[in-house]
Formats: sequence, C-alpha cells, structure tokens
Amino acid sequence: MSSDKFYITTPIYYVNAKPHIGHTYTTVAADVLARFHKLTGARVFFATGTDEHGAKIAQKAKSENKDPLEFTDEISGQFKKAWSDINIKYDRFIRTTEKDHIKAVRNALQFMKDKGDIYKDKYEGLYCVGCEQFKNEKDLVDGKCPDHQTVPEFMSEETYVFKMSRYADRLLKMIEFDEFKIGPEERKNEILSFYKKEGLKDVSFSRKNIKWGIPLPWDEAHTAYVWSDAFLNYLTVLDWDGNPENRPQMWPPELQLMSKDILRVHATIWPAMLLSLELPLPREIFVHGFFLVDGQKMSKSIGNVIAPEDLIARYGVDATRYLLMSTTAFGGDGDISWKKFDEKYTADLANGIGNLVARSITLVEKMRNANMELTLTDGEKEVWGELGFYHKNISEAWDKYFFLFKELRIDEILFLVISGVATFADEYITATKPWELIKNNDKKVLVVMYNILERIRHISIMLYPFMPATAEEIMRRLGLDPEIEFKKDFKDLIKWGGLSPETKVDKGEPLFPRLNQD
Ligand code: MSP
Repeated sequence: MSSDKFYITTPIYYVNAKPHIGHTYTTVAADVLARFHKLTGARVFFATGTDEHGAKIAQKAKSENKDPLEFTDEISGQFKKAWSDINIKYDRFIRTTEKDHIKAVRNALQFMKDKGDIYKDKYEGLYCVGCEQFKNEKDLVDGKCPDHQTVPEFMSEETYVFKMSRYADRLLKMIEFDEFKIGPEERKNEILSFYKKEGLKDVSFSRKNIKWGIPLPWDEAHTAYVWSDAFLNYLTVLDWDGNPENRPQMWPPELQLMSKDILRVHATIWPAMLLSLELPLPREIFVHGFFLVDGQKMSKSIGNVIAPEDLIARYGVDATRYLLMSTTAFGGDGDISWKKFDEKYTADLANGIGNLVARSITLVEKMRNANMELTLTDGEKEVWGELGFYHKNISEAWDKYFFLFKELRIDEILFLVISGVATFADEYITATKPWELIKNNDKKVLVVMYNILERIRHISIMLYPFMPATAEEIMRRLGLDPEIEFKKDFKDLIKWGGLSPETKVDKGEPLFPRLNQD
C-alpha cells in the first residue's frame, strides 16, 4: 500500500530500575505503529534500547555494590526480556555502553567542537540527578524537582558547553511551521511559549567528576553529558559512525514517541545538536500521556508500580497490549486501575471479540451440520441495507482506521474496531437470527454467515498491529493460513471477499478466557 519509509523510536530507558508499564506503554505503542506500517508495505525501522551512563546509574550500581557495567547488563537484559515477553518486534535494541555507539558519540562531539559549537567554561547551576538535567529556580516546587521530589544539588565546575543559543531562532521557526512537528498541539504551544519566554541558553555538555560516561576525545578528564550521549542513540542505532557526511539511509525519524517528562530536552537540546551536526530533524515528536495508578503517580515508595509481567499474568500478552492501548486517550494523561482493566477485558475481549468469534463459528458449524454451505455474494449491500447501522460498509471503516492511525489516535482505533466494526457484527447476528434461519432451512443464512465470517476476517486484520497472535489465531479459526494472509499485498488483503466460501472453520478454545475473581 505504501512504499514510504517509517523510522520510529522510543526513548532509550534508564537502567536504574526494571521496566514498568509506563515504559511498556510507549514501547507497545511504537510496536503497534511499526507493525501497522510494515503491514501496509512501508520500509520500517523500529528502534529502542537503554540509556546506561551518568550519575544516576553509577549511584544506583554503587548502592547495590555492583560494577556499573555488570549492573547495566542485568537491567538492560530485563528490558530486553520484557519486550520479548510482550511480543515487541523491534529492529534493533541499542545500549549506550556499546563500543560502536561510544566511538560515534566521540566523533560527533569532536565535529561539534571543531566547528566552534563547544567551548570551555565554568558552569554553575542546580542539577537534578533524577532528571539528569540542570534546573532553573522556576522549574522547582518548594525548592524541589516536582518529578523526583528531591532538592537539586548545586554544581559549579569547569565544563565544556554547547552553544545551543546559536540555534534558538531557527528552531523556533521550524517548530512554529511544523517543519519539526510537535504533537499534540497543546504540547507544541507549551514549547513555543518556552522558546519565547526563556529562549535557549548554552548548556553544559561535559562532567568532570562523573567517571561513568564517555570520555571527550579532546579532553579525557571530562565525560560527555549523559543526554548528549543518549540522544545520539537515535543515529547510532542505524549504524551511524559519528560523521555527518555518512548519514544513514533511514534518517530522519518519521516519529519519535515519548512522554511529557522528556519533551523539553527533546525539543531543545536534541534538535539543536542535529542542526550543529548539519543533519535533518525528525519529522515529528509525539508526546503521549502519563499513567497514573488509582490517581497517583507510580512510584516505588507508594508501592503502586505495576510491571508488565503483572498484567501478562492476569490477562495474557495480547490482552495486556490491548488494555494498555485502549484504556486511556493516547495524547492525554490517564488514570488506570486493576478494576478498569478487568472491566475492559471482560466487556471488550471476553464478551466482545472473543464471544463474537466463538458464536459465529458455532453457527457456521450448525449450519453445515444442517447441510447448508456458505455463499459469497457480490457484497453486503442487501443485508446491511436492511439494518442501516453506521459502519455498514467495511471500506468506510477502513478509511476511518487509516485516518486515525495517521492522527495517532491509537485508543480510538481500538474503539472503532471493537465498538464499531465488531459490535456491528453482533447486532447483525441479533437482527438476522441465523439460528432461526437454519431451523427454517432458509437459504438467506448462507449469505448472512458468510458476511459475518468475512467481517471477522477484516477485524482480525485491523487488530493485527495490536494483538498479532490473536489476529493470527482468528485467521486460523477461519480456515486461513496467517503466514500467507499477513504477507499478502495489503490492498488485496483488505478487499471484501477474501474468505473462500468453502473454508474449514475451527471453533477452538476461548480466545479470552473469563477472569478468575479473586
Ligand atoms: N533515558 C531517558 C531518555 C533518553 S532518550 C534519548 C529517560 N528514561 S526513562 O526511563 O525515564 O523513560 C522515560 C519515558 O518512559 C517517558 O518519556 C515515557 O515514554 C515512559 N514512561 C515512564 N513512565 C511513564 C508513565 N507513568 N506513563 C507513561 N509513560 C511513561 O527519560
């Protein structure tokens, strides 16, 4: 369908603690988008990884009496395992402790230094180790970093400074005109007002007293500021060697996902570095919401941190992916709870799509036991016409589906599929009463049941980016080979009539078993 390229990134996560559902949320969303673009024929690269240098990680390793690399190996391995357990299909997982990354970062910083964008100075300011960022008084609440509830330390040391102020005017224009797009709109406005009020000040780019980092090539007594090291992962993950002339083929990203906690640095330091490196900026940065659990920020001290494996244990892999993507609006903050997840699982999955597939296949089996075979007609017209529901035409639903993907309204896509396309099939069954048609030997049932099964095939394609294993299983139950189906040209795959009337259906076990009430 599309021969465009689609390079998507998640933030690389700090390895100071194991992954929780906040990290999982961003990564699953990126996986959904990558799978969707792959399915429709784009050249896709999906990058994720771990951010392993800096004071925060060094301190944490020390508190556990571990050597930093031994510690980061361990936690980075936990991220990899979590992503594999939840069926994330990234193209590469990068670690900032990899040799090639380190070499490229040194080359890139040397390039910036050589063109006069990095100079030596003395730097003073408040530093929050939790954020790994300098803070202004204005950023603090009661003298504390609002994200970490800690008092930032006062730092005063000799440092190399990035001349970021040089790029302020150019960046402001690029953001204003969406040449460097920031979404949703309110986040863009927030950044624009930051540029207008505060402007861009030069920023400290090296640390003399932090040993756990990448030594600067021209002065090894300093290590690179951890964010300068981390940002460059978006390039080094594509095998970039740090030389701006060797720009990777997939550069720039079509989309970089993250939450609001790290938007400011991604909208200032990161693009300024790219301008300094004379490389194109990402097309779009999109900021999704922050998860709160029962109204509170997830935190170890409150004890409300939910790990992805906790959800998988209760709901299974695909349902966990579904619940993460559907429970809150993608661009806004959202409150989650076990109660909400349970209710949604039961309504949308066990009673929703799971029940639709089971009852439809049971009806087809009954029909065949009565010696009635499915029939393919040239469309749904006659039967949909009688009922007159919205989404009556599957191609209308597809148009909406593509539109919502383009707009990154991810939760609404699932609402469309479950509460639109699938619910319609349920209502259609209720209205046409196929069990009565079978009893009365009414041939109309042949068309009715074909329409339902074919609609279910479309539902399985729509669900594929979100719940790949479930989508494949639905295909199998419809008598199709998912290995063949999902490799078809997308345009052909979504034409009405892809299911053969002679297909052999298979009821199987419930797709989404009922939850244990404990
Ligand atoms: N290492 C930096 C990023 C460097 S990228 C060049 C970092 N790491 S982090 O581990 O703190 O990850 C932050 C990101 O994790 C957020 O921007 C978001 O994508 C995800 N989330 C962490 N907690 C979250 C929630 N409670 N809710 C939603 N997303 C969350 O910052």
